[in-house]
Amino acid sequence: MRKGKESIANDGAGRAALLLEWYGRHRRLLPWRPLSGTAADPYRVWLSEIMLQQTGVRTVGPYFEKFVTRWPDVGALARASLDDVLRMWAGLGYYSRARNLHICAVAVMRDHGGAFPETEQALRALPGIGPYTAAAILAIAFGRHTMPVDGNIERVVARLFAVEATLPKAKPLIQELAATLLGVTRTGDAKSRAGDSAQALMDLGSSICTPKKPACALCPLNDGCAARARGDQETFPRKAPKKTGTLRRGAAFVVRRGDWLLVRSRPEKGLLGGMTEVPGSKWLAGQDDRTALKQAPMLKGIARWHRKAGVVTHVFTHFPLELVVYTAKAPARAAAPEGMRWVPIATLQHEALPNLMRKVIAHGLGT
Ligand code: ADE
Repeated sequence: MRKGKESIANDGAGRAALLLEWYGRHRRLLPWRPLSGTAADPYRVWLSEIMLQQTGVRTVGPYFEKFVTRWPDVGALARASLDDVLRMWAGLGYYSRARNLHICAVAVMRDHGGAFPETEQALRALPGIGPYTAAAILAIAFGRHTMPVDGNIERVVARLFAVEATLPKAKPLIQELAATLLGVTRTGDAKSRAGDSAQALMDLGSSICTPKKPACALCPLNDGCAARARGDQETFPRKAPKKTGTLRRGAAFVVRRGDWLLVRSRPEKGLLGGMTEVPGSKWLAGQDDRTALKQAPMLKGIARWHRKAGVVTHVFTHFPLELVVYTAKAPARAAAPEGMRWVPIATLQHEALPNLMRKVIAHGLGT
C-alpha cells in the first residue's frame, strides 16, 4: 500500500525523497551548478564554495563567471600570479580567502596531480578548506554520503525537528539530523545524491524556510515539520542569549578646520583595525565625562570644547559603547597633532569609516 504524504513526510527516507522531488522542480539556476544529470566539476564546486563562505549567492555569481572564464581549471589558476587573483577578487572582501585560493590551487597541482582529493582528511589539509567546505566538495562534486551544514540548513533542520538545544551547542545534533535528509539513488549505490540533497536544503532555506515569515504553505516538508505543528517555527533555531558585556563609555572629538575634519587611523590590529576615526578617549567601563574630556587632542588655538547634547550609542559583539561628543573649531592653518590628519569633509565617503564613526561625525557636525 502506498503511504500517504503525511507519513512519508515523517521518516528520513520519505523526507529526503520529497526534498529531491521539490529540488527537481525548483532548483535555482546558479552558474556553478551543472545541469541536471551532468557531473559537477570539483574545481568549480571548490571555487564557488570558497567564494560563498562569507558572501551571498547574488554577489558571487559575476565573480565566479569572471574567474572560470579567465582560469577554466585549477592548473590555470595555479599558474596565475597572486596579484592577478587578488585584483579579480577585489570587492569580494575577506582577502585571505583569495590568498588561500591561490595557495590551494598550487598545492592541488603539486601534491595531487591537478585532481582534487576525495577524502575529508586530504581536503582539510588544503588551505582555506574547513569542515563545511570539505563536506560540500565531497557531497556536491563526488556524491559522497555526507551533509555540509551551513546557516540555511541549520535553520531548516532546527525547525523540522524543533531542536530545543541552543546554537552553537546544538551543532552536532543538527549535523546528525541533517544527515537523515540525504537522498540515495534508487540502487542505493555509493554515489548518493548528497549534493542535490544539500543544495535542496540550501535553496529551501533561502527561498521558503527564511529567518522571518517562512512560506510554510509552499514547503515540501511542511507536513512533517515539528516546529510548524507547534506554530512557533520562527523561533528556531534557538540561540544562546548573547553575552552583552559591560557598557563602556568614552568621548569623541569632532574638530573642524573650515571644511576639513581631524581624523586618525586606528591601529592595524584589534577592534576596527586600520579604520578611520575622529580622535577619542579610551573606551572604559565606568569612565566619567571629565576623565574622558582630559584625553582631548592638543591643538593650538582651541580654547573650549562644546559638549553636544545626547550620546552616540553602538553595540559591538562583546560590549555596548556610549560616546559623548565634543566639538571645536580649529583656526585656519592649525597643524594636525602627531598621528592625525585633516581630511576634506566632502571626501569623507572615501575614508574607511566604521558605522560608529559615521554616527559620531553626523552627531558632531549636526548633519
Ligand atoms: N551556499 C553555499 N554553497 C551553496 C550552493 N552550492 N548553492 C547555493 N548556495 C550555497
